Amino acid sequence: MTETAIRCVDLHKTYRSGDVETPVLRGLDFEILSGELSVILGASGAGKSTLLNIIGGIDRPSSGQVWCAGQDLATLDDRSLTDYRRRNVGFVFQFYNLVPTLTALENVEAATQIADNPMDPAEALRLVELEDRQDYFPAQLSGGQQQRVSIARALAKNPLVVFCDEPTGALDASTGRHVLDLLVQLNEQTQATIVIVTHAAPVAQLAHAVLHLTMEGISTSRNQQRARAADISW
Ligand SMILES: Nc1ncnc2c1ncn2[C@@H]1O[C@H](COP(=O)(O)OP(=O)(O)O)[C@@H](O)[C@H]1O
Ligand SMILES: [Mg+2]
Repeated sequence: MTETAIRCVDLHKTYRSGDVETPVLRGLDFEILSGELSVILGASGAGKSTLLNIIGGIDRPSSGQVWCAGQDLATLDDRSLTDYRRRNVGFVFQFYNLVPTLTALENVEAATQIADNPMDPAEALRLVELEDRQDYFPAQLSGGQQQRVSIARALAKNPLVVFCDEPTGALDASTGRHVLDLLVQLNEQTQATIVIVTHAAPVAQLAHAVLHLTMEGISTSRNQQRARAADISW
């Protein structure tokens, strides 16, 4: 039986500043299964980053439940939420967010130091085919290589879920395809639960499950046949 990694129930998020209220997430119900590659697809402004920040423990919902590892993140105090994020979650961002003064290996090591059951950092860099670049600083690496370091950093924590927010957004099409291919491979090799957020519809063809996010809500579909990264274009 496949386990649920994350389950959201009637999730709402409204941003408030002064008298202005911006409702963004309006009662979402969905689940993300362990070991799967899921894609959250939605137009720009649909609330994808808002949703990812909530299920990644960076932000809180206005109401509703976010179940992960047997607890409802919406009920955790700040300290427990930070602890959840540090131990259980890996993030990959559009602009890599590597520490510029640390080498590739040191960037990965820094993440594993706060994890319970981390991978060997050098092994994580090997998985993303960067073992020969471990002593390079981010500025000495291409965009695609920096994104691969950030994927190694997320994966090396052995987290419950790796969240990728527009991971190919800053890359050219061919490098982006390579990064997607790598995420598909890593999901197969390590059974890591991976969630990719994107506005690029073709990326959804790679996923086991596709969560379509619109103003109206969220709906999940499953791919019977998945495309290869080499065969998609966007
Ligand atoms: N901190 C914030 N304060 C107020 N509004 C926000 C904030 N963050 C995002 N929004 C608004 O929420 C909506 C969804 O944003 P976002 O989650 O970034 O969408 P996406 O990632 O799908 O492009 C947008 O209308 C945006 O302006
Ligand atoms: Mg976004």
